[in-house]
Amino acid sequence: MNSSFFSSRNAPAKATELHAKASPDFAATLAETQALLQRAATEFVPVTQASSLGAEDVVITHLINTLQLDISVFVLETGALHTETLALLERTQAHSHAPIHVLRPVQASVIQFVRDKGQDAMYQNMDLRKACCAIRKMEPLARALKGQRAWITGLRQEQSTARAEVPLLDESEVATKDLHKFNPLARWTWGDVWHYIATHQVDYNPLHDQFFPSIGCAPCTRAISLGEAFRAGRWWWEDEAAKECGLHVKTQASKPANL
Ligand code: ADX
Ligand code: SF4
Repeated sequence: MNSSFFSSRNAPAKATELHAKASPDFAATLAETQALLQRAATEFVPVTQASSLGAEDVVITHLINTLQLDISVFVLETGALHTETLALLERTQAHSHAPIHVLRPVQASVIQFVRDKGQDAMYQNMDLRKACCAIRKMEPLARALKGQRAWITGLRQEQSTARAEVPLLDESEVATKDLHKFNPLARWTWGDVWHYIATHQVDYNPLHDQFFPSIGCAPCTRAISLGEAFRAGRWWWEDEAAKECGLHVKTQASKPANL
């Protein structure tokens, strides 16, 4: 057993103790992120942050609050989130200055889907898994983005090979949806994220202390083992290439942000 995983009290180490390590150029990266958020808030009104309440997203919400930016936050509460995530949502609603909007799926659609296909339909095949994501995530996402000029996500290039090209400003949805997408942490490392959380004592999901780096719905998320890929715990029964729920389609026509 790797002793660095345990503190002197012999209790499992916290994610802040395990991961916080800023990159050499973190100060410049943080300044770039702050400038991008400022730009989103002033040039793309109205703009909203999509938060899963994961580590990246709590950093962004903290920056929005610290910089007092006019940016709202929305959470897709799928009805299948972990109790730890729901508790963090309550704490965030209580403490955030930025308004937190919670979007839930259409209850009749969820009930019908579960009645027809079963509670565990997502494990049967990818079509059923995507149908569940369509009801619980995609339809509420469309409502959240209606009337917005831009949205902000916590996507990072390091998260997976599919995300390696994620730009700071993604303009691929402008032609079809008139929507800009900001990924202000695109260049952050996992160490940068936890350095920020530790330095600013940001409240985070305790599942991160239990080896859940990437957190989605409870039935579709598990802890990862040492050496496993960052997103290995998401839809772990599916092919690596399929591990996106549709919130983030692969972008082609995008360009670096013009700061
Ligand atoms: S997912 O597409 O596989 O679910 P992931 O969990 O990596 O995405 O999160 C990437 C980004 O998508 C988050 O940083 C956040 O901006 C957005 N996101 C994911 N899940 C939600 C959610 N439940 N509510 C709001 N935004 C979300
Ligand atoms: Fe359904 Fe799983 Fe998709 Fe959540 S991640 S909406 S539980 S299939």
